[in-house]
Amino acid sequence: MIRTGTLLERDRDNEKLQRIIADFPILARPTSRGKRLVYLDSAATSQKPRCVIDALVQYYEQYNANIHRGVYEIAARATDEYERARVKVARFVGASPSEIVWVRNTTEAINLIAYSWGAQHLRRGDAILLTELEHHSDLVPWQLLAERSGAHLRFLPVDERGVHVLDDLDGLLDGCKLVALGHVSNTLGTVAPLETIIPRAHAAGAIVAVDGAQGAPHLSLDVHALDADFYAFSGHKMLGPTGIGALYGKKALLDAMPPFFSGGDMIRRVRYENTIFSDPPRRFEAGTGNIADAIAFGVAVEYLQNLGMSWVREHERALTAYALERLAAFEPRGLAIYGPRDPDRISGVISFNFADIHAHDLASILDTEGICVRAGHHCTMPLMAKMGWSATARASFYVYNTPEDIDVLCAGLEKAATVFAR
Ligand code: ALA
Repeated sequence: MIRTGTLLERDRDNEKLQRIIADFPILARPTSRGKRLVYLDSAATSQKPRCVIDALVQYYEQYNANIHRGVYEIAARATDEYERARVKVARFVGASPSEIVWVRNTTEAINLIAYSWGAQHLRRGDAILLTELEHHSDLVPWQLLAERSGAHLRFLPVDERGVHVLDDLDGLLDGCKLVALGHVSNTLGTVAPLETIIPRAHAAGAIVAVDGAQGAPHLSLDVHALDADFYAFSGHKMLGPTGIGALYGKKALLDAMPPFFSGGDMIRRVRYENTIFSDPPRRFEAGTGNIADAIAFGVAVEYLQNLGMSWVREHERALTAYALERLAAFEPRGLAIYGPRDPDRISGVISFNFADIHAHDLASILDTEGICVRAGHHCTMPLMAKMGWSATARASFYVYNTPEDIDVLCAGLEKAATVFAR
């Protein structure tokens, strides 16, 4: 049972939380040491509810067939379910289905933009504005695009807490064709002020591509209202399977873009000499897609929608506030908490180090107690270098986490302190 306490006095949905936990089979399995699994690494990948796992099995057991090709019953069903999933994912982010391109993951989506839109629009002397918080997947593709096009990169700075500094935003936007930034930092949980940055980028003549890998799973989204030009996200971080993600692109932008990959299923007419391509989104979906994964991704977003994304945000805000309060008690003993402290600016991610215990050692000790946290540079090496951290431990929360999980984390920190005091 979950403890009662200040958090759950506010959380009138304790029963709802119990039902959610029961939906995730992995959470009922003890670790090999007989411990309860305390999964605090959802920023790396989320756990999967039974309905998502069932959707994968149902596809393979009941209607495994290729899409957009066969006229027979199971092929028609596979096509219907695949396209229905696109509608569900589109609705989840406030887009139209024709604006949703299936990709493997956020990284592939960002590469699609860089190779297709980037090759068409970026020229020598143009600027691309990123932020200092970017994950390698929202940095390296732009570095390569800059090399190919002769454009150059600029970086919106963050302060010592990892919060965006907007003082010189207009100066940085001058001459910019593209702004690419994460909605939520995977290392610090900082939520980007997109409502401020997007209109100012547009006023400066730049389009905005949002890396939503850590945003879409946690925040209510309406990409039209946000006026993002592109928004990329991954299924596996939002209760769906690995190997499937989506790129939202404004219709006018997608319509004008050349293909990234080419081959079957993205064409209208092919001759030996040339090809006329399909309209988006299929223009960008060469070859057989991840059919089962896309269908299960649709089930995952339905699950999140049934929970209510405002409930998800509120639940994570409360957990983050509770975790910050509990972790702060370790500060006199050398625990350093990184990132913003205001739960409004953070989305369920807390990075920390404990005294002189290396983050990897700390993660290994916590593992002996069944606690899963990530340790290392979190694919943000430039940010780590800027901040002067060689590695951090990172706890990240999602819909199935409880205050008790945070209590277990704190008990794990006590154990680490004891082990390293010897
Ligand atoms: N981007 C994922 C993370 O932050 C893998 O852990």
